[in-house]
Parts: sequence; structure tokens; C-alpha cells
Amino acid sequence: MGFYNDVILPRVCDLAMRNKQLRPYRERVIGAAEGRVLEIGIGSGRNLPFYRPQVTELLALEPSPQLTAMARHALHPGMQVNFVEASAEAIPLEDRSVDTVVTTWTLCSIPDAAIALTEMRRVLRPSGKLLFVEHGMAPDKNVRRWQDWLTPAWKRISGGCHLNRPIGAMIESAGFRIDRVETGYMPGPKAMTFMYEGSARPG
Ligand SMILES: C[S@@+](CC[C@H](N)C(=O)[O-])C[C@H]1O[C@@H](n2cnc3c(N)ncnc32)[C@H](O)[C@@H]1O
Repeated sequence: MGFYNDVILPRVCDLAMRNKQLRPYRERVIGAAEGRVLEIGIGSGRNLPFYRPQVTELLALEPSPQLTAMARHALHPGMQVNFVEASAEAIPLEDRSVDTVVTTWTLCSIPDAAIALTEMRRVLRPSGKLLFVEHGMAPDKNVRRWQDWLTPAWKRISGGCHLNRPIGAMIESAGFRIDRVETGYMPGPKAMTFMYEGSARPG
């Protein structure tokens, strides 16, 4: 599994996340980030081009050294990013110290997403916001059946990605108040493309 996890998986993740259909989501979600921003699971850095000048500091948390190296390569000249090699289940930041937490297609892969969301809430200032776009549990019974059936095998080959997580409910269970959430299928296999995009505040 070492070679697969260390060499193949980061490249597959990068390729998958280059999908052009993700771009409008990235533009909207990342475009709303401001102040001191913590991005959870920055991966190969596909969000980097979309940060705007209202971001005063960008902290990029990522547990995979291979993906962190790719994200460093994706930096454009002069762009200042502080990389944090850590897991979202134990964020090495002070309580109430960031203005925006960003998560894009990451909650599906974090082993204990409930603890990670609690951590995100802990580090957010009371006036801060969580910006998210994630794929997850679909509303249609037939699609949900496929998601439940595929997830055990899918997560073994995809770096732990769950197809069937109820993203909105998970965010609320961690104590966030959802201000806005838009859901819908993106073109592609329905089990993998039901999106939740929105923002939430620490409750
Ligand atoms: C599908 S990729 C998405 C990458 C990136 N957010 C994007 O939009 O291109 C999932 C990401 O979740 C990260 N991840 C997995 N487990 C994690 C954890 N415990 N804490 C933080 N990030 C994690 C992976 O390393 C990977 O970067």
C-alpha cells in the first residue's frame, strides 16, 4: 500500500481535482474567503488561483507530504502560504484565531469528520465562517443505495473517500448554523456528484 498511497494516490487525486467542472464551485467558494483563512486538505493546491486580495493570510493544512509538495509547486510567484502538515482532527491552531475555514471535497475523506468539524468550529472566531463545497449523500433513494453499496470498496482505492456522508447534517451536528446551502447533481455518475455548497457560522 506504501507505493499506492505515496505515489499513485496523490497523482490520481491531483488529476481528479483538475476536473474543469469544479471550477465554478471553486470560484464562488474561494472568492468569498477573507481575513485569516485556513484551508482544510489543500491537496495539490487547485484552489490557490481563486484566493482574492481580501485574504490577509492563508494557512494550508494538509496531512499528505506528497500533496503538500504539489501545492507548493502550484504557488504563483509572490504568493505567501503557510503550510501546516497536520490532520484536521487535531488542528494545531489557537481557539478563535481564524476568520474563514475552507473545505472543498475534503470532508468525504477525513476519517473522523465529526471531530474535524468540531476542530474547525474551535479555531473560528465567533464572527467567522465556514465555506464549503463537498459531495455527499444524495436525496434519491436509488442513488443512496448505490452510494452505500459502493463506499466500502471505493474508500479503499480512493484514499478514504465516502460517497454517502450527509454533509449538511454533519456540519449542523458540529454546532454550526448553516446560512446558505445549495445542493444538486453535477454532470457525471450520480453516486459521486451530489454537491453541497454553502456557508455556515459557529453557532
Ligand atoms: C479529494 S482531495 C481534495 C483536495 C482539495 N481540497 C481540492 O479541492 O482540490 C481530499 C483531500 O483531503 C485530504 N485529507 C484526507 N484526510 C485528511 C485529514 N484527516 N485532515 C485533513 N485533510 C485530509 C487529502 O489529503 C486530500 O488533500
